[in-house]
Amino acid sequence: MSAACPKLRFHDYQPELASFRSAVLQGLARDNKWIPPKFFYDQRGSLLFEAILEQPEYYLPKVERQLLQTHAAEMAELIGPGSVLIEPGSGNCEKVRLLLAALSPAAYVPMDISGDFLFTSAHELGTDFPRLPIYATCLDFTHTMNLPGNVPDGRRVLFFPGSSLGNFEPVEAQHFLLRAGRLVGAGGGLLIGMDRKKDKRVLEAAYNDRAGITADFNLNLLARINQQLDGDFDLDAFAHYACYNELLGRIEMHLTSLKLQLVEVAGQSFQFLAGERIHTENSYKYDPAEFVALAQTAGFRNCRFWTDETGQFGIYYLVFPHD
Ligand code: AVI
Repeated sequence: MSAACPKLRFHDYQPELASFRSAVLQGLARDNKWIPPKFFYDQRGSLLFEAILEQPEYYLPKVERQLLQTHAAEMAELIGPGSVLIEPGSGNCEKVRLLLAALSPAAYVPMDISGDFLFTSAHELGTDFPRLPIYATCLDFTHTMNLPGNVPDGRRVLFFPGSSLGNFEPVEAQHFLLRAGRLVGAGGGLLIGMDRKKDKRVLEAAYNDRAGITADFNLNLLARINQQLDGDFDLDAFAHYACYNELLGRIEMHLTSLKLQLVEVAGQSFQFLAGERIHTENSYKYDPAEFVALAQTAGFRNCRFWTDETGQFGIYYLVFPHD
């Protein structure tokens, strides 16, 4: 706790470096090389992601922010006062500010995999909302969302904006929603923002911004491997590649090897053919009916749905019913 943020507590369940090492070594040994997107978010990756949010082509945060601003009072009424608001992947804690203007929760629990970034963001929030009890929790929410023991009682509502669920495979998304249901319990809620299917050109532009920030974000994964896992990736010998897979309804991000090369990571050697790719992210897009059906398989009932005039993005409020 600090004088500026009397009600900020920090809990560190930070995932071990060992889990990064084993995911990278296993992922690079596969025929279809794959590194999970959660490893984008070291300190620099989190800052680059913030910069992506500002890119004109990346429409998601602008449309979502507009929806949150327009409907904050109605959302706050559904969530109710005295609730415990839990936000996995809270990043810069910016979006919750729009809700806090209309809502007075008993506690806010931001969760993020990037410890320093989480601490700074929670501290800034606590400075602006000094009466809000904040339980900043550093963890990998794709594995666990256990709350620290000292979080107060209250109706639990998971706030999951930014279409982050789209980064899970559909079956993993279902498992995440099952865990979310267990966490919030009977009568708890889920306020979630999800990107919608749309014109391929709009989607592809969003993941290939002209300023090259998404490319830097993608390539930063290799820089992180070099730094933390003693790798020797030549960043100039790989290129960012993002495309929309219409059949699967997802944006795919890859890093393409520009030549035949050998790369060392943590003492192991990996061969890349020219044109061979490391798959680094999927970002699934859901039509509203598809998303509601998915949430229903995990026991949630849809209560309210907001979308913009052109149907780019959706925010859903779902409840986990009493039996
Ligand atoms: C965090 N997540 C929802 C972003 C997305 O759109 O899938 C991550 C991202 N990757 C590239 N740009 C943004």
